[in-house]
Amino acid sequence: MKDGKFLTLAIESSCDETSVAVVADGRTVLSDIISSQIKIHTQFGGVVPEIASRHHLTNINEVTEQAMREADVTWDDIDLIGVTYGPGLIGALLIGVATAKAYAFAKNKPLVGVHHIQGHISANYIQYPELKPPFMAMVLSGGHTNIINVTDYNKCTVLGGTRDDAAGEAFDKVARVIGLGYPGGPKIDKAAKEGNPHAIEFKRVMLEKGSMDFSFSGIKTGVLNYVNTERQAGREISVPDVAASFQAAVVDVLVTHSLHAVKEYGIKTFAIAGGVASNSHLREAFEKACKEEGIEFVHPSPILCTDNAAMIGSAGYYEFIKGYRSGTDLNAVPNLQIGEKQGVFLAK
Ligand code: KG4
Ligand code: ZN
Repeated sequence: MKDGKFLTLAIESSCDETSVAVVADGRTVLSDIISSQIKIHTQFGGVVPEIASRHHLTNINEVTEQAMREADVTWDDIDLIGVTYGPGLIGALLIGVATAKAYAFAKNKPLVGVHHIQGHISANYIQYPELKPPFMAMVLSGGHTNIINVTDYNKCTVLGGTRDDAAGEAFDKVARVIGLGYPGGPKIDKAAKEGNPHAIEFKRVMLEKGSMDFSFSGIKTGVLNYVNTERQAGREISVPDVAASFQAAVVDVLVTHSLHAVKEYGIKTFAIAGGVASNSHLREAFEKACKEEGIEFVHPSPILCTDNAAMIGSAGYYEFIKGYRSGTDLNAVPNLQIGEKQGVFLAK
């Protein structure tokens, strides 16, 4: 505790960001250090898991010290350690989990394992200090595209998801095909600003009526076919037009399906979360659609959309408040399902 506030030290290392944060009362960020490995992985065109783990290992103690320095706290002030234990890359997760367990044991602090996707949703609690469940959330990350019914701070159910590629995955693959490289999402977002979203009509795949699932492989194949046909005919493609048209198709599908879910459940607040949630066209489209339907739209600032430990600090705080703890047997679970807990239990 410091100044009457409950302090969570949170660790996130599920992919290619080593991040440590100190969060007060689950809502206020005192520090959120993000050491990104993007430059290292760019030369390989994507995240190389083995290299990511090695960099987490070299960086994590320094990033932890930096987070505590910036928050101006000592170990005596820390009340809880929260750590992402899944889903993610196994080697990368293990570095965070082992570090958190070592600190919890050495400093005699309670520990709680945090679901990465629960963390992404919780970024909204930091952005909107008054936000409370229930609400509907759409999680859009490199590996997930899900419509989630958030019934409590640490409870949610999946209403729908992608049947093939995640939205971020589709952005990354299309970016590679049109020569923008890694990381694809932000590069398509930027290129699309100079392009015409109506230049090419990529087919929107809307699944059967009433379904809350998505499919992006059709749009992705549409882009691949278009690019191949043009190249074979010796025509130059317009990268901004392809980027803008692809982005428009993906966003169209996302907005249509999620608003259908929000209306069906009669929910009044809709949140987005995850790396793709920082896409500028997507934010504008959701803003407009929600306004038309009289639904409150919330979204984290771009820095809270990417992988960061502050969101884990918020989610960990609420797990703790609800009575959940982890022991030194906490393990990394690379394919942890949304709503699932392993090694996170209710304290007696
Ligand atoms: O949530 P995140 O940082 O990591 C995972 O948990 O996967 O999401 C990463 C994904 C990547 O696919 C990246 O290309 C995408 O988010 N992304 C974006 C944008 N910024 C990041 N996609 C579209 N537009 C963006 N501005
Ligand atoms: Zn993430």
